[in-house]
Amino acid sequence: MDILDGKKIVLGVCGSIAAYKVAQLARDLTLAGAQVDVIMTEAATRFVGAATFQALTGRPVLGDMWALPENGAVGHVALGARADVVVVAPATANRIARIAAGMSDDLLTTTILATRAPVLLAPAMNPQMYASPATVANVATLRGRGYTVLEPDEGRMAEHVVGKGRMPEPHTLEGAIRALLGRSGPLGGYHVVITAGGTHEPIDPVRYIGNRSSGQMGYALAARARDLGARVTLISGPTAITPPVAVTLVRVETALEMQSALADAVADADMLIMNAAVADFRPIEAAEQKIKKRGDAGLTLHLVPNPDLVAGLADRREFFKVGFAAETNDLLANAQGKLERKGLDMIVANDAVLSIGQPEIALTLIDRGGVASLPQQPKATAAAALLDQIVARFQRWLLH
Ligand code: C5P
Repeated sequence: MDILDGKKIVLGVCGSIAAYKVAQLARDLTLAGAQVDVIMTEAATRFVGAATFQALTGRPVLGDMWALPENGAVGHVALGARADVVVVAPATANRIARIAAGMSDDLLTTTILATRAPVLLAPAMNPQMYASPATVANVATLRGRGYTVLEPDEGRMAEHVVGKGRMPEPHTLEGAIRALLGRSGPLGGYHVVITAGGTHEPIDPVRYIGNRSSGQMGYALAARARDLGARVTLISGPTAITPPVAVTLVRVETALEMQSALADAVADADMLIMNAAVADFRPIEAAEQKIKKRGDAGLTLHLVPNPDLVAGLADRREFFKVGFAAETNDLLANAQGKLERKGLDMIVANDAVLSIGQPEIALTLIDRGGVASLPQQPKATAAAALLDQIVARFQRWLLH
């Protein structure tokens, strides 16, 4: 189930041109199953119409503090009290100052003062206003109180100046909301390291030996782990896909680079999900110059084996280790052999022939307690279902 499903989100929209981007956020959150109550400040209504948010969320847009009696409860307090998260986007310099000062003179400030839910603010303003000592101090005050204040993006502002003050894009806000909601999830407080994609082993400055791994599964696992509360380090080989927001991304190219990134990341890890397709061999050395064609002569590459990264961590028993096995034959026997040989706590096997290039995948989960399977399903939902299975086994492992 999507972490946003059924969540109550209060979305405070303030008076900045970035308000138009928040319409997309309201839609994305609603489509993911959240109940989104939009509060618009008076100034916000000068940029975007309330009808836009009402149509996108399917709920009335709120603004008037005095128009909210709910079942006898005082409306302006009830809204904050039942929220799972309160988001202020765009957060103007004025709003940030008023919230930092503890004011409660309209519905948004009152809701924030009355809530015990996590509060997320996405500043958007002129770069000089953002850099002004007053705003800097106000942001520090809010962070000191435990509020999450996102860094604005740098770039071209609506008024054509360039600087730091743009509101982060809607998908970045959604990722930050997911991370906040996940804090109380089953992986809350745990550090999960995930490797994804394939490695590139250089032949010369322009060529490499690679493989067909897209990284999709590893990236989807990372997003799900974040949603369940984990602090996630994603060590990724070269891929073309957008990384999930609110995870620490470490980009590597070769197996040896991945090995050294892994050594750093697992220092305080609670779980390692070794999803990367690590090259088994690399050219003994990469040519310094581009290798030239010489008439009809062929080219022989001398390859040496790469270390098995996860097997190299076999004696590290302080974190839970999950490996993968894509097999073309004798799935169970081969995967079981790898579970033992590589010192894993769990291995996830799939039939390489049936799944490569296909939209769906069936997975077999093997640990020392036995074998289970996840039915064939689209790869997108398979990753979430798989992570839930991994978490269940991790929780059992913690008890031992
Ligand atoms: O032996 P095989 O490559 O099938 O094993 C796959 C598992 O081992 C995956 O979890 C993969 O990430 C890991 N692996 C590794 N280092 C290698 C090769 C594979 O950690 N050099």
